[in-house]
Amino acid sequence: MSAAVGLGKKTLRDLDVKPGDRVLVRVDFNVPLKDGAVADDGRIRAALPAIEHLRERGAKIVLASHLGRPKGADPSTSLEPVAKRLGELLGTHVFQAPEVVGPEVRRGAARLENGEILLLENTRWEPGETKNDAQLARDLADLADFFVIDAFGSVHRAHASTAGVAELLPAAAGPLLEREVTTLRGLVEAPSRPLVVVLGGAKVSDKIALIDRFLDIADSLLIGGAMCFSFFRSRGIPTGDSLVEEAGIELAREALAKAESSSCELLLPVDLVIADRFAADAERREIDAVDVPDGWMGLDIGPRTVELYAERVKSAGTVFWNGPMGAFEMEPFAAGTRAVAEAVADAPGTTVVGGGDSAAALSQFGLADRVTHLSTGGGAALELLEGRELPGVEALDDA
Ligand code: 3PG
Repeated sequence: MSAAVGLGKKTLRDLDVKPGDRVLVRVDFNVPLKDGAVADDGRIRAALPAIEHLRERGAKIVLASHLGRPKGADPSTSLEPVAKRLGELLGTHVFQAPEVVGPEVRRGAARLENGEILLLENTRWEPGETKNDAQLARDLADLADFFVIDAFGSVHRAHASTAGVAELLPAAAGPLLEREVTTLRGLVEAPSRPLVVVLGGAKVSDKIALIDRFLDIADSLLIGGAMCFSFFRSRGIPTGDSLVEEAGIELAREALAKAESSSCELLLPVDLVIADRFAADAERREIDAVDVPDGWMGLDIGPRTVELYAERVKSAGTVFWNGPMGAFEMEPFAAGTRAVAEAVADAPGTTVVGGGDSAAALSQFGLADRVTHLSTGGGAALELLEGRELPGVEALDDA
């Protein structure tokens, strides 16, 4: 990034936390679970610097997070497996509260010794959470003297445990939130050029706001994944049995029209890998074209597209990548996504990756630590890049 972009909000460093102070930290522990255990602890690890900082200060730490989208107190979305994993990572016991607010929580919080940690139950077990209920926010705020938001993945939600509590306590950004926001804002406000953006995934409608924004500010916008078929259909190119989002066809047409008068080049695949069914053992062909015959579906970008995209990525000053290039979870259709991931990892410029699928792809290819910044936020990262306000950031105290 060519220039530093500030947060403009108080950060953890600005809080004068003393031994015995009670600090409520909103983290994003919305992690995948498998067989009752945490399947990917990336988001838990990302919150460790804030927690360790507060432990070193002798604070009494209360952590709050949502997990999934439960309707009520669904035990399959309990944070208990998260408390266990967090305890393993920190090498200390993490107390698990049986509820989000209430007498048990108040007792548990009051019993904390300096440096100890209490993890509240899933905030979405409380119906008031997603409604930003004032009483729930007050009950949470009563547990602490300070509030820290380090839940970057949740700051696009104006919920009781994010924006609600922030209005009631001295509130600051944790180190993860600070790094995420300054890096992603830097990407759109002050990128080293050329700024090359690679967007994949299935639906144009999910990405159209991003496409629109980047057509204004990027130098190259490279499209992959099934959403390219909406673009092809808008040009009358046959797509066979490929996954096509019908509602995306008009949006794609508009994006192509905007690209005509934009200084940003919009590139679409020039060749494809096709299959006769959506299965790892399907018959597979590489075609040196993009019109897909009947009875076939496009499942990956082809080798010429890989070369074209990799060349742009490698000569970029800044790269942003979001969304896979094909059905990478099936090995015969992983080459395009792998090649883009490798090009991003090898790129000499600043490299930023956002979105759960791209993060999963980077991990699958062993490249997660080879990028400048791997965002922990899905929707939050996209909304920030689209230029939308993030309620969980806006509610923090100004610097
Ligand atoms: C995420 O995983 O993107 C965040 O934790 C937000 O989750 P939500 O979309 O359920 O609010």
